[in-house]
Amino acid sequence: MRVLVTGGAGYIGSHTVLQLLQEGLQVSVIDNFSNSSPESLRRVVGIAGQNLDAYQIDLLDTSRLTQAVCEIKPDAVIHFAGLKAVGESVSQPLKYYKNNVVGTLNLLEAMDEAECRTIVFSSSATVYGDSTDLPLRENTPRNATNPYGRTKLHIEEMLEELAASDSRWRIANLRYFNPVGAHESGLIGEDPQGIPNNLMPFVAQVAIGKRTEVQVFGGDYSTADGTGVRDYIHVLDLAAGHLAALDYLSNAQGVHVWNLGSGAGSSVLEVIDAFARISGRSVPYQITDRRPGDVAESYAHPEKARLDLGWKAERGLEQMVEDMWRWQSKNPDGFPEVAMEFLHQDELALFISGNQKLPSTD
Ligand code: NAD
Ligand code: UFG
Repeated sequence: MRVLVTGGAGYIGSHTVLQLLQEGLQVSVIDNFSNSSPESLRRVVGIAGQNLDAYQIDLLDTSRLTQAVCEIKPDAVIHFAGLKAVGESVSQPLKYYKNNVVGTLNLLEAMDEAECRTIVFSSSATVYGDSTDLPLRENTPRNATNPYGRTKLHIEEMLEELAASDSRWRIANLRYFNPVGAHESGLIGEDPQGIPNNLMPFVAQVAIGKRTEVQVFGGDYSTADGTGVRDYIHVLDLAAGHLAALDYLSNAQGVHVWNLGSGAGSSVLEVIDAFARISGRSVPYQITDRRPGDVAESYAHPEKARLDLGWKAERGLEQMVEDMWRWQSKNPDGFPEVAMEFLHQDELALFISGNQKLPSTD
């Protein structure tokens, strides 16, 4: 089976590509590297000892995209490629609609042309908007509150309408909660550009000494310690959810929706405490005003994924922090600028051999 992974060089994509290779599947990646480095793919193939094909293509480049998808002839697509910064989506909404919605539309048309009609889509718990009906279930009404969230909502709707129009499509909308952690090797992980928007990478950068203190956005929520509560999920558990969804789609047509979360919440202060304890570093923080648009609490009802997919989150907060810290301390500046010699250009495809020398993990 050949799986095409868009956005496969990114944070969640790279961990998923690794698991696909480890399961013995053939993998092709399409990524424009706008928010990632090909070094992540070099390390993935090195860990797996398997080869992959990578295509440096933007989803907005319809002719190269269609040519590549027809050349790859995938049996299924896992679609991660997208922009994801909520604040930037407010200041540049058109960039988000174009990249995420038009990019997905182009991908679906290319898939149709290549006769591949199975897709797993990276949706988000952001489609539940500011719902306070906890835990969040797949049938909780959708209500996005920012342009990024609305791109996810529009794509979910587009996929629903597509499946309704043509029963050959097999579609999974996976709504992620808060992905964190890294592969246990410390070789791949999240590499945010600039100041991290999300809590866990920010805390990691404070622990390593790159930033002075964490701003805790609000200490007066009606939660146990007054700080925001989220459902953190280890990126390896999340990746496993994609393989389970692919497996399910092999026997099911139409659209299927699953929350991928643990079902449990952790507060901002619990995350900071865990990080300080596990890293042995001090993590200074200051409680400041609430961040506009944040909800007090968000966590999944994860039962549907357990029943349908036999999937549940296995790793707890300690493991997430331990793995995140290993990645952060071994790669304090993220992925290095890479010499691209390991990418062998052959027409459209970049072929990355599984025989890669990896950085030491001692
Ligand atoms: P990421 O930025 O690390 O990965 C996205 C990848 O897509 C990057 O490698 C980027 O270069 C690529 N990309 C973006 N636009 C592209 C385009 N037009 N053409 C080709 N490649 C393109 O992000 P991630 O955290 O791995 O997230 C993956 C997906 O999951 C995204 O769709 C995101 O919205 C969704 N998601 C992420 C989170 C989270 O907190 N990380 C939560 C919910 C949903
Ligand atoms: N927080 C801080 N300080 C920071 C960053 C965050 O106190 O510097 C707090 C937030 O107020 C919130 C919690 O930490 O209470 C988590 O915030 P994140 O920014 O890490 O995550 P969010 O839940 O706000 O949003 C994330 C993604 C969204 C996605 C959502 C659900 O950024 O794109 O998870 O998947 F939609």
